[in-house]
Amino acid sequence: MMRLFISILAMIISVGTFAQSANMVPKPVSVVTSEGEFKITNNTKVLFNATNDIEKQFADLTSDILKNATGNAPKFAEPTSNKKGNILIQLNNPLHTKIGNEGYTLSIQPNHVFLNANTTAGLFYGMQSIWQLLTANEGTTLPCMEITDYPRFGWRSLHLDVSRHFMPVEFIYKYIDYIAMHKMNVFHWHLVDDQGWRIEIKKYPKLTEIGAWRADRAHLDWNSRKEPVKENEPKYGGFYSQEDAKAIVEYARKKHVTVIPEIEMPAHVMSALAAYPEFSCTGEYKPVPPGGVWPITHIFCAGKEETFNFLEDILTEVMVLFPSTYIHIGGDEATKTEWEKCALCQKRMSNEGLKDEHELQAYFIKRIEKFLNKNGRQLIGWDEILEGGLDPTATIMSWRGTDPGIRAAKAGHDVVMSPTSHCYFDYYQGNPSLEPKAFGGNITLKKVYHYEPVPEELSPQEAEHIIGAQANIWTEYMPNGRHVEYMIMPRMSALSEVLWSPKEAKDWGDFSKRMKSQYQRFDKLGINYATSAFQVSAKPELDTENKAVKVSLSTDAWNPDIFYTIDGSEPNAQSNKYTQAFSITKSGTVKAVVIQDGKQKSQPLATDFIIHKAIACKVNQKYPNSKSYESSGEFALVNGIKGSKDHHDGNWKGFNGKDLVATIDLEQSQSFSKVSTGVLQDNGAWIFYPTHVTVEVSEDGQNYKKLGTVKNKVSAKDGERQTQELVLNKKGKGRYVRVTAAHLTSCPKGHAGEGKPGWLFVDEIIVE
Ligand code: ACM
Ligand code: ZN
Repeated sequence: MMRLFISILAMIISVGTFAQSANMVPKPVSVVTSEGEFKITNNTKVLFNATNDIEKQFADLTSDILKNATGNAPKFAEPTSNKKGNILIQLNNPLHTKIGNEGYTLSIQPNHVFLNANTTAGLFYGMQSIWQLLTANEGTTLPCMEITDYPRFGWRSLHLDVSRHFMPVEFIYKYIDYIAMHKMNVFHWHLVDDQGWRIEIKKYPKLTEIGAWRADRAHLDWNSRKEPVKENEPKYGGFYSQEDAKAIVEYARKKHVTVIPEIEMPAHVMSALAAYPEFSCTGEYKPVPPGGVWPITHIFCAGKEETFNFLEDILTEVMVLFPSTYIHIGGDEATKTEWEKCALCQKRMSNEGLKDEHELQAYFIKRIEKFLNKNGRQLIGWDEILEGGLDPTATIMSWRGTDPGIRAAKAGHDVVMSPTSHCYFDYYQGNPSLEPKAFGGNITLKKVYHYEPVPEELSPQEAEHIIGAQANIWTEYMPNGRHVEYMIMPRMSALSEVLWSPKEAKDWGDFSKRMKSQYQRFDKLGINYATSAFQVSAKPELDTENKAVKVSLSTDAWNPDIFYTIDGSEPNAQSNKYTQAFSITKSGTVKAVVIQDGKQKSQPLATDFIIHKAIACKVNQKYPNSKSYESSGEFALVNGIKGSKDHHDGNWKGFNGKDLVATIDLEQSQSFSKVSTGVLQDNGAWIFYPTHVTVEVSEDGQNYKKLGTVKNKVSAKDGERQTQELVLNKKGKGRYVRVTAAHLTSCPKGHAGEGKPGWLFVDEIIVE
């Protein structure tokens, strides 16, 4: 009995310690570790019988992978050779039913390694695991373990927009390596957008002669590049020749990555229309735009037969280059004002009995779908293609949240989930004030890790239609491959685990621990990865009894060494080492940074704390704030902590179309000389400064006396993200202080929200 207990205990311990020895990403389905290790020496052979081209290609990749880890290319021998000291790789016969067509089993014993799979894809993923183990274990050592592994989803993809910024061919190869290394299997290549056409089409050479080039406005912000440009001005751009595309597809195929081209239509095609204006409704020449365009109105004419001939010709060449079952046809963000005015589009609508322009878009997409189907291909597009009706054979990429994906799955479409909430890697991944300029939003590594692609609303049968998920990389703010790496790494590691590992295995602590090895792999490969997970954030802990503030510091990295100062000086390894929340007794700045292995891991955080008379006092709000912008809750307006310019940073309370009316109970009558209200403006996010702030005082909470009003002086049209304090410098006395911040009741003229109420954001009410 005791023996049994001990051996069970040993098993639990060995499974428990696997995190150190098998710190792979994505986490395998099952790992059972045991004592000992297999050492790769100069005599170690790979026993593998390559009988066809695909197997020979796999053998070459195996050689590369092992050489990359150990420094030596291995020798190959027949599988019938002595197994001792060698790595035996075999395709299963009969098949192993549990691991499917991408899984593998890996048995590492002191005397041999066995890698088995049903397909070369499975063997390839097994080799990726071997590479990961080797790189985490000094290059030549494989700790003993038994792995059974296979993916949760069949579609595991990464997208790349090469229109907004052209990425050289060499980078596309690297990108495919990154996908394969994460056991992902689809590269969605966004080859067409307004700001550049990037694929050579022999029948229409102007697509790349004209459409691939734009005026260089790199010195201006993306959305401020709107000035008209002359035809002879284009300088920035590039495109992929058909030979480039074929070579990339072939390279990806060997790494079990399918390349899916995206040929946008009917919108996001100003580059094509700059080359061939005759396929727009107006026929008017407009140059390739050098930056952001919104709304997108200059689109393909749906009334002209010539448009469809043009697109079918293009797709015919594209299908030769890309053997993928799926062809992505875009379909997003078409504003149909030109269609409304176009006689040919209107004629098409009446001839076809289409009741509005949405149905005209549906006609457009269905017609293209028929063409693709006739050629043995399947259509995939952004979720807008659901509007106006669609054949169930089309596959949807749900990007505007998960609702379109839910609707599509219920209607019988296959769905790839790619919602802006979790899958837009063009959004910030850390504190925006410490990050390079990004599109907006904030999707941290932790947030990606917690993504669940299958919505709860779906029945088990409907859930079968969620075939996987994808991260999108729109490159408006990514001028080169190094920057793309920064935005995808390490977030794609988290996504790879969402897509590969069992749902039940989700464990953030364990993942963040394994990321330590993953960062080492990135270092080995020279990848420019983000260390945003090491950014420190400061949270106040309020002592409401004693009206005091403690500050706690945290990161999204595992077991970080945090060093901090409270006197405004820059923190270093000699500063205070953070162990627990510390008290703040006077106003100042907390600065904090992670230093590990002698290296500073991220930009230092700097958070201002203001110690004032209302700290930790009860606040009564007449109108509740939005549930999405609670800040730290009940005491957020009197917690001594200021927000940044990012309204998502967790320090702002947001009010949608409501004033802030906050009554602070100072618990006893107190004198003060100044009341400041911290507010934010982010015009693009519909957040505006209040028009004014009024302060009133009362001794009894019933009868209030107005102390004064401060007006906001900044225009609501000022698009710069900014904060300010509206300060009333006036002596007052009382137990209750009531602050009213009046929201902007109507977004300004010309704003996307014109006529609708704006948001109001407040971080702190400071009573001094
Ligand atoms: C998209 O982000 N417009 C698909
Ligand atoms: Zn038209």
